[in-house]
Amino acid sequence: IRMFARNMSSTANGIKHVTVIGGGLMGSGIAQVAATSGYNVTLVEVNSGLLENAQKNIKKSLERVAKKQFKDNDAGQKKFVDEVSQRIIGSVDVKSTIKSTDLVIEAIIENIKIKHELFSSIDSLAPAHTIFASNTSSLSIAEIASVTQRKDRFGGLHFFNPVPVMKLLEIIRTADTSEQTYNAMKSFGESIGKACITCKDTPGFVVNRLLVPYMAEAVRLLERGDASARDIDTAMKLGAGYPMGPLELADYVGLDTTHHILKGWNEKFPDEPLFKVNPMLEKLVSEGKYGVKSGEGFYSYK
Ligand code: CAA
Ligand code: NAD
Repeated sequence: IRMFARNMSSTANGIKHVTVIGGGLMGSGIAQVAATSGYNVTLVEVNSGLLENAQKNIKKSLERVAKKQFKDNDAGQKKFVDEVSQRIIGSVDVKSTIKSTDLVIEAIIENIKIKHELFSSIDSLAPAHTIFASNTSSLSIAEIASVTQRKDRFGGLHFFNPVPVMKLLEIIRTADTSEQTYNAMKSFGESIGKACITCKDTPGFVVNRLLVPYMAEAVRLLERGDASARDIDTAMKLGAGYPMGPLELADYVGLDTTHHILKGWNEKFPDEPLFKVNPMLEKLVSEGKYGVKSGEGFYSYK
């Protein structure tokens, strides 16, 4: 993990204050890496219980990072965790925090209606220069941006789970994203230590366009009884060098999320065979088996 413990007074392209909306799996990781790099961060959740939960998860993750960075130095570990945590202010009132932010990164539920509600409610309250970005896995950035008056200052910043560990950041520009916005998003990404790639606003961008059909194909192998779950995963780890097998990875990403992505694409692109929905995946999700987060998916985590 590259770490930047800078205490900046000014940062990439004038971005100093970042608001992360949604403190779940992704939002808490995004808030953590931005704060670690010296940005002042506001993390927004829907209620104080969820906010506390997000802050707890950030602290746990920071402690993991600190243990490695400040080996055998308890005071150094504590100082690091405290300093970074202090740069993250929690809020349950997006409308008041948005008035003084340079970059908004949205990481709420993958639902276009709810994302539209959020962006249309903050567009007129945010300063004119503020850049809006979505961390969506599968939705169109242009479609999300369509409810705002700042389509030139709107793009995609797509992070990967676990955010503090995964080095990649996909930067998505729509036909309307301005050069200035693109450059600011890219230098923000670089300033937090991510390797940035650029992709057009296409379904799944680069990684998910390849990864989601791959995971779905692994479920089809299992559905047909061609191989066991363990053997499919072992095959891809030892035969293709992936850190996790496709079914383990689906459990890790969340079976609900994986199914939701496929379902959305299938509705939009019914002729694309790669986007076919899996009956087995659908069944597991209907039984509440979402993978690691619910304690059971293709494997048990209880
Ligand atoms: N916070 C901080 N550090 C963390 C962490 C976290 N949440 N999770 C893991 N780590 C650190 C560990 O401390 C450990 O550090 P060291 O090696 O320096 O000691 C390192 O990461 C590896 O962790 P583990 O030893 O616990 O386990 P591992 O070696 O099996 O690695 C993994 C775990 C990094 C998750 C690895 O299995 C992996 O890379 N898996 C694939 C993940 C992947 O493909 N993610 C992308 C999913 S797709 C997506 O995100 C996009 C989307 O839109 C759906
Ligand atoms: P999650 O369910 O873990 O977290 C979403 C959080 O957003 C929840 O805690 C929820 O309370 C909060 N939220 C919902 N509406 C809100 C609002 N109006 N204001 C403030 N907070 C609100 O989901 P996640 O896995 O973190 O995914 C978030 C986004 O990131 C989605 O668009 C998803 O597609 C994308 N994404 C997910 C992954 C992944 O591997 N899970 C990877 C990359 C991108």
